[in-house]
Amino acid sequence: MTNAYELTGLRHRYGGRCVVDVPSMQVRTGEILALVGPSGAGKSTLLRLLNFLEAPTEGRLVYKGNEVGHDVPLDLRRKVVTVFQRPVLLRRSVAANVRIGGRIRGERHGGEKTDALLGRLGLAGFGHAPARTLSAGEAQRVALARALIVEPEVLLLDEPTSNLDPYNVGLIEDVVRSENHQRGTTVVVVTHDIFQARRIAQRSGLMMAGRIVELADTETFFTTPQRQETVAFLRGDLVDSGAYIPPPPKRRRRSRR
Ligand SMILES: Nc1ncnc2c1ncn2[C@@H]1O[C@H](COP(=O)(O)OP(=O)(O)O)[C@@H](O)[C@H]1O
Ligand SMILES: [Mg+2]
Repeated sequence: MTNAYELTGLRHRYGGRCVVDVPSMQVRTGEILALVGPSGAGKSTLLRLLNFLEAPTEGRLVYKGNEVGHDVPLDLRRKVVTVFQRPVLLRRSVAANVRIGGRIRGERHGGEKTDALLGRLGLAGFGHAPARTLSAGEAQRVALARALIVEPEVLLLDEPTSNLDPYNVGLIEDVVRSENHQRGTTVVVVTHDIFQARRIAQRSGLMMAGRIVELADTETFFTTPQRQETVAFLRGDLVDSGAYIPPPPKRRRRSRR
């Protein structure tokens, strides 16, 4: 099994504050890896590092054997795409928004590929619709089509289905799964939805206060987590920034009146 990413001693700081601190982590080629964790844990920052949008303050980030620094070669940038929680679509047609995914990477894609992707995402016939008139779920599916048109090696998803209805969540998960299965696309998905991690990921990890607290195959992560923090998070006892809320103390039974 090869690794898509190898992180070693990776730290990222903002204004002196360390928001990502990962001594060692690998993302395997062709896996779907889910990261869950409270907000402020550093999940989006880690995805930005994996997308080469920022260079880590310290440590090594290796992608397929190549160390990535400040100057990221264009051909490397093109291999990785991110879909964000709230996609920004241009004031153009749906089809134009999908094609732009390729354009900004210097590729031109014919209408057939665009139509096929729109069809897979339940958007057949939407090609000429103005993108700004779409519902949140439709817009997110367009954003996914725009990402997939370049056939990326790595698909990074940052809370891609937050606030979407089950129909849209299901459609998006199906396409992500089939892309992973058919093309071997490596997927890292950050999600608030632990059930989503369980549904689609082969491995799942908990991120808290910049650290990967636990990372295991998904079944183990959910059924026999090793770390107290994971148990607490899965139980819903963890809130923002990784603060741990201990369970309420057991009431002492009054022995006498
Ligand atoms: N560009 C930035 N400048 C300064 N601080 C940032 C920046 N981006 C994120 N942070 C801080 O880094 C921490 C982690 O943020 P983020 O990666 O967005 O967490 P998550 O995605 O897990 O909610 C937060 O405390 C956030 O305020
Ligand atoms: Mg985030």
